[in-house]
Amino acid sequence: MSISPESDEIKYAKGLEGVIAAISGISFIDGDQGILVYRGFSIETLAKHSNYEEIVYLLLHGELPTRPELEELTNKLKEYRTCEALMPSIRSFPKDAHPMDVVRSAVSLMGIYCPDKFDFSKEIKMQKVLRVVAKLPSIVASYDRIRKGLEPIEPDNSLNHAENFLYMLNGEKPDELSAKIMDIMFILHADHGMNASTFSAMVTISTLSDVYSSLTAGIGTLKGPLHGGANERVLKMLREIKSVDNVKPWLDEALEERRKIMGFGHRVYRAYDPRAKILKKYAKQLGEQKQGDLLFEIGEKVEEYMLEKVGAKGIQPNVDFYSGIVLNHLGIATDVFTPIFAISRSAGWGSHILEYLESNRLFRPRAIYNGPYHQEYIEIENREGE
Ligand code: SDX
Repeated sequence: MSISPESDEIKYAKGLEGVIAAISGISFIDGDQGILVYRGFSIETLAKHSNYEEIVYLLLHGELPTRPELEELTNKLKEYRTCEALMPSIRSFPKDAHPMDVVRSAVSLMGIYCPDKFDFSKEIKMQKVLRVVAKLPSIVASYDRIRKGLEPIEPDNSLNHAENFLYMLNGEKPDELSAKIMDIMFILHADHGMNASTFSAMVTISTLSDVYSSLTAGIGTLKGPLHGGANERVLKMLREIKSVDNVKPWLDEALEERRKIMGFGHRVYRAYDPRAKILKKYAKQLGEQKQGDLLFEIGEKVEEYMLEKVGAKGIQPNVDFYSGIVLNHLGIATDVFTPIFAISRSAGWGSHILEYLESNRLFRPRAIYNGPYHQEYIEIENREGE
């Protein structure tokens, strides 16, 4: 069947906008109402009552764990936290590597060192997902210390996922508020339907490739500034704006030049991203603690003016807008923001690829061909030009 734009067989949607690529029970987004639900629980409820370890279980298994189930998962994650096999490579990486490149490379290396690399059973696939979820905080924290000339810190298994990450990053146990906020960051970023990085991971697993290749694909996709890479750029934007008074002129110029304002807009949300609402509260709380730090005030003014200028077009704050301010207040380096997104989203990627494999179908879309037809082959000596 020849494919042409006129063919009524074609449902061409650039960027697959509005196309349904899978059926999933993992998370639901109502873009008009600004609603996000994981396995039937609202994100507000989970942020208030749950923790990241529970969310990992919920996303992977479809229900909240009993105490023994949570204990078993938590122990498994603690067992998998160390990264001996990866450390020589991580130490060999250049000190100016972007931490997202380190994360992508380290997960790819996990596919080489994994003791069960040739076992493709369902049970071992789940274990491989948990290995990545468990090791990502150690990989990010270890590289961040190595590039500063510091020794990596061994995981402390008396600490939960979020506490241990901050401990391995900073060399000291976090205060209660920082640990709680990091846990909430992990909860809020854990899953989000058919986003680009999840879809990328699913396309890879649909060829029956391995878990590590699939999650490596997800990491590479998340890195982009239109996706998970926006949080890092929000901070750079706020610092460039420098003052509340400069918000309007800066934004007027940027919008005039049709530049995308990082942390705003979304393919699905036409309302305020519910995750941003939750993060704004913590960004304000942390900002108040740091006298003289204007980031939150500048951010709030950016939000106010953007809503005035383009809010009616459905361009509202997304998860990346306040997450950068929160992470900055936790003393985390800006280029570690997106790796933190990856640490959390590894559970969502893992859940979707395992769910999709339950009734796998190779992703293989079509393209409308707009190239030439019936070309005559001309020997090189008879071709025009030098
Ligand atoms: C994440 O998909 C997910 O679920 C992702 C995510 C997740 O949890 O996985 O939610 C995480 O990636 C959040 C998004 C982070 N990215 C950014 O903050 C980057 C800035 N945002 C934009 O690049 C943009 O909003 C996208 C990429 C997020 C969505 O873009 P779309 O759906 O492709 O929309 P578009 O670029 O076609 O824009 C439609 C219109 C355009 O104007 P017109 O040409 O119609 O006049 O809206 C304008 C755009 O110029 N627009 C913006 C804008 N976003 C859209 N204008 C200024 N600033 C923006 N941020």
